[in-house]
Amino acid sequence: MQRCDLTPREHWASRWGFILAAMGSAVGLGNIWRFSYVAGENGGGTFLLVYVLCVLLIGLPIVMAEFTIGRKSQCDVVGAFTSLAPGKPWVVAGIMGVSSAFIILSFYGVIGGWTVKYLVSYLTGSLWSTPENGYDGFFIGFITNAYEPLFWQFVFMALTIGIVFLGVKKGIETANRILMPLLAILLLVLALYSLSLGAAREAISFLFSPDWSALSRPELYLAALGQAFFSLSLGMGALITYSSYLTPKEKLPGAAVGVVSLDTMFAIVAGLVIFPAVFAFGGEPGAGPGLVFITLPDIFQNLAIGVVVGIAFFFLLAAAALSSAMSLLEVAVSYFMRVFGWGRHMTTVVIGGIIFLVGIPSSLGLGVLSNVTIFGKDILDSMDFLASNIFLPLGGMIIALFIGWGWKKSDALESSDFGDTLWGNAWIFILRFVAPVAIGLVFLRAIGLF
Ligand code: PHE
Ligand code: NA
Repeated sequence: MQRCDLTPREHWASRWGFILAAMGSAVGLGNIWRFSYVAGENGGGTFLLVYVLCVLLIGLPIVMAEFTIGRKSQCDVVGAFTSLAPGKPWVVAGIMGVSSAFIILSFYGVIGGWTVKYLVSYLTGSLWSTPENGYDGFFIGFITNAYEPLFWQFVFMALTIGIVFLGVKKGIETANRILMPLLAILLLVLALYSLSLGAAREAISFLFSPDWSALSRPELYLAALGQAFFSLSLGMGALITYSSYLTPKEKLPGAAVGVVSLDTMFAIVAGLVIFPAVFAFGGEPGAGPGLVFITLPDIFQNLAIGVVVGIAFFFLLAAAALSSAMSLLEVAVSYFMRVFGWGRHMTTVVIGGIIFLVGIPSSLGLGVLSNVTIFGKDILDSMDFLASNIFLPLGGMIIALFIGWGWKKSDALESSDFGDTLWGNAWIFILRFVAPVAIGLVFLRAIGLF
């Protein structure tokens, strides 16, 4: 096993390279596919309110915690803890992090594959007019088929592997530099178009006016917390890994605020793409995971320039998914490169290949293995629940406690670039008390203890 302090480490070419990559990791299927259906299922505005509270109060401080740990340690998720606190139990957060990377990327690759399939279908014309069994028949027929989704999952994983294979600077940084500005522009254009379809008012009130009675739903809080962690790429060391490629001269708090606000804006604007269109054509906001794959194509078909919108939308979705998948793969690759002492190329292909295989049951669980359920959820949904709603918040809690209690306060303040300021002290206070207690309460509420 190699030691990070004795091996030269690759670094981002520039400060913007890091920020764009962290934004690329954050902005993904979580903002568009997952946010819209989870918000739709949990009452829209009420969900958004609790979600934003989770992001600001728990998410942002832990993003800063991950940035601080990564840059300071210059090491992968596991090595970060073993080098900063040798022989201490904090490293469980690192081990959980690598496990979460495997679990999340395994099913993320399945959905990523669907987005590529839809993009290609829009490019080649098979979705230009209503398919034989309607858009829902098309989607259900596709995901329940045993082989076809695996082919697209393979294509998506091959693209992810290809970029990570090229390395931090040449692969990940370059890809994000191209994709992120394109995504931001595309999303804004789509939102303006969607808001012009005549149901802007309905969508805005669905998304921004909370229904207070929905606050009593017990699942709401865990759903919002899990969504916040998933969307911010938080709690599993994706941000530790990316910031471990930083040189000490960057300023961390500004970068953290930038990543968190962009991710949140992306989710809200994605809501403004999806819900006005859904309401304009009488769709159901609580339609579940099929929302963007069934409801939207159905809507696009009614639009004058539906084909162009379809191509733009699924390109956006596929590219956002790809830039997040890279960061998931990089967490595992950076760890196994050190543990096995292998080069980047071999590690990327082997680990990426294994994660592809691990994802196969998630895909088959929607078709041939649909009788396999865990607590009433199919395999993909169970993986998502386990990782997003349990591992990520738990990992985040350990990370918060690690900086709050495992470090000397003056060290933490200095390594974070906060220094001994009001903001710095507030940050430490949140990591020590507020975030761990809040996460704990959400867990207790979810298991029905109050
Ligand atoms: N944040 C990504 C998204 O919103 C998903 C992700 C989770 C990426 C965890 C990396 C780590 O799609
Ligand atoms: Na996100």
